[in-house]
Amino acid sequence: MRGFLRLTVCAVSCIPRRPCSGGRPPAPLGGRILSNPDHIFQHNTWDHVQWTEEETEKARQKAEENSKEKIPVEEQSKYDREGHKYWDRFYEMHQRKFFKNRNWLLIEFPELLPPDDAGMCRLEQEQGSGVDSCSEQQPCASSKLTSHTNAFPGQHAAFRILEVGCGAGNSVFPIISTIRGSKAFLYCCDFSSRAIELIQEHPDYDPAVCHAFVQDICDTTSPFPFPPESLDIILVVFVLSAIHPARRAQDVVKGLAGFLKQGGVMLFKDYGRYDLSQLRFKKGQCLSENFYTRQDGTCVYFFTKDEVHHLFSNAGLEELQNLEDRRLQVNRGKKVVMHRVWIQSKYRKPYLISAAD
Ligand SMILES: C[S@@+](CC[C@H](N)C(=O)[O-])C[C@H]1O[C@@H](n2cnc3c(N)ncnc32)[C@H](O)[C@@H]1O
Repeated sequence: MRGFLRLTVCAVSCIPRRPCSGGRPPAPLGGRILSNPDHIFQHNTWDHVQWTEEETEKARQKAEENSKEKIPVEEQSKYDREGHKYWDRFYEMHQRKFFKNRNWLLIEFPELLPPDDAGMCRLEQEQGSGVDSCSEQQPCASSKLTSHTNAFPGQHAAFRILEVGCGAGNSVFPIISTIRGSKAFLYCCDFSSRAIELIQEHPDYDPAVCHAFVQDICDTTSPFPFPPESLDIILVVFVLSAIHPARRAQDVVKGLAGFLKQGGVMLFKDYGRYDLSQLRFKKGQCLSENFYTRQDGTCVYFFTKDEVHHLFSNAGLEELQNLEDRRLQVNRGKKVVMHRVWIQSKYRKPYLISAAD
């Protein structure tokens, strides 16, 4: 077994409140390392896979080839303008069945777990938040609270999470089951009204812990249902890739950063450059470099780590984590291997140091 590190990953039903590998935190992004190529078909996935120069060059050539022919500029604006309609059709067709539940979510992003009461009060003191975020039953005596005139859903929660581009709820429902009974509250939005209906119709949807709403995160004029600097966590999972990388993504991240409390964290996961799904595109589907439209009109961009870093640091956030998740997926029956690439990042809004400090 030399060279093999086994990661103990719990099944969906056991999303842990703390990491579940014998008390030790699991390795980030998994720890099943392929050190002997002869063992490749022994498991379905391998983590932290290094690409050879030859593999990188082959991927670069494939991407260059499938992006040679660009969709004419005059045809491109419809993908921006009508994005919500394409995604509505997508959810109409696939309902909740397309994306898998994000089972890795609370393992890779334990920041989503609401702190215990003591941690909550400490957080409040550190953040000195201007929003009333302690519960009515158990206020944090030492936190500096300002009064709120406008009521909003989740106003009395002590820990607020927003998921943008939540789709049919593959992250929403694991989070709801984790925060139920705590002082946390989840907001989730998507510009597909069909996706939001699917969430609201789900038997586990509970307005006492979650508020789902339709919102286009590229539309800077329509208000969100909570005030600025009121959120502890913003989850951005496989959604920025659906947004025009040059025209829109930066403004979206800056706009969202305005809703984070000081010390609040943005959690990001999305497609990485030369992921298998990029290399599978055929000629004639490319909108601009590394940005494609699928047959159904939905769009997808493939990020590098550096691009992600610029997006978040230009929004005034500081890096806690920015990793390339390179994985080998194995179809053991067909003896086929697939290189997956995702970027996983965590960026925090810095605490402001006042002149008096
Ligand atoms: C690839 S799906 C991911 C869904 C979900 N985050 C998940 O991981 O299962 C991308 C989602 O982003 C949403 N989306 C794309 N552009 C958006 C925008 N401008 N505003 C809000 N949601 C958007 C789509 O409707 C879709 O539900």
